[in-house]
Amino acid sequence: MSKKDQIKASLEALLDPRTNQPLGESNAVRHISVDEEESLVTLILALSETGGREEKEFTRQVAKIVKIEHGFKGLKISYEQLKQAPKTARASHTKYIAITSGKGGVGKSTVTANLAIALKRLGKTVGIIDADIYGPSIPNILQVPKYQLRVNEDNKIIPPTAYDMPIVSAEFFMEDDKPLMWRGPMLGRMLSTFFKETAWDENLDFVLIDLPPGTGDVAMDVQTLIPEAHIIVVTTPHPTASHIAVKSGYMAQNLKHNILGVVENMSYFNNPANGAREDIFGSGGAEEVAKALKVDVLAQIPIGQPGNRQNPSIYEMHDEIGVNYLGLANKVLKEFA
Ligand SMILES: Nc1ncnc2c1ncn2[C@@H]1O[C@H](COP(=O)(O)OP(=O)(O)OP(=O)(O)O)[C@@H](O)[C@H]1O
Ligand SMILES: [Mg+2]
Repeated sequence: MSKKDQIKASLEALLDPRTNQPLGESNAVRHISVDEEESLVTLILALSETGGREEKEFTRQVAKIVKIEHGFKGLKISYEQLKQAPKTARASHTKYIAITSGKGGVGKSTVTANLAIALKRLGKTVGIIDADIYGPSIPNILQVPKYQLRVNEDNKIIPPTAYDMPIVSAEFFMEDDKPLMWRGPMLGRMLSTFFKETAWDENLDFVLIDLPPGTGDVAMDVQTLIPEAHIIVVTTPHPTASHIAVKSGYMAQNLKHNILGVVENMSYFNNPANGAREDIFGSGGAEEVAKALKVDVLAQIPIGQPGNRQNPSIYEMHDEIGVNYLGLANKVLKEFA
């Protein structure tokens, strides 16, 4: 490898002080010339923010590579501004949290809806994206009234609300009682419609994203659309669920998402006859997932139905499980404190 290539490789491994992204990834080594006779290296480097203390410190790292590691006497650097990735229409204030599990039927949608409501009970503003395009269940869980598509003056979809939360779901774009039979590219567009073509209130504190079961395409699309999304992994205590939950967590980590933690749903049953805690679906699932992903168990939610039968999926604030969800919401808030 030539001297120039060696220096280039070392520079490309340096991290941008603001974004921690390696220079190689953002093509930030714009120019490099090496004059061995004059013992001089000339560089043009791009940083996400130029000037100030960070640039000075960064220059010291570059000098160490050029002068100490490669023995050149002279170094000239000029910095230019790295163009930021194009911003989407989203507000930077909003935190996105995607709920995943790998395995189906473990309670992702129930957790999404009840966590959203618990965050609201703690005074936050919350929206929900039902990203389970093949099997949307959020509108049913939250009893969203039948929706007539409405758009604002910018032609953006005005989402319907339930429990005072804006919600988008593929359900709203289906004909009654007909399954959705769209193919891949159209489904991809649907997700981007949810994110980009919807009139989201810029001041929302949280948008929760209910992911479909599996570890596939939708998670990848979410990564492309919301690279900064955080993840909650839901599992039941049984190894068959935790095994797949770990996989969905690994996938999220590969996609560079931050995993907030694990929720164990249907964790145990409080037997009303004798007050005993019974591990109907086994035990240890969440702990196993948390250990593998090196995160915490955020909540263990027992088996039980809501006290108020008006909505069979939403727990009242004072239900035992409602209190569990408040605890979970509190932990989520702490993660962002
Ligand atoms: N803690 C709980 N106690 C009792 N029933 C529960 C609990 N959590 C979820 N359920 C029930 O389990 C079923 C599956 O839950 P849910 O639809 O939320 O799972 P999911 O992971 O979103 O499923 P899918 O993979 O199909 O999207 C629902 O009938 C729901 O009401
Ligand atoms: Mg679901």
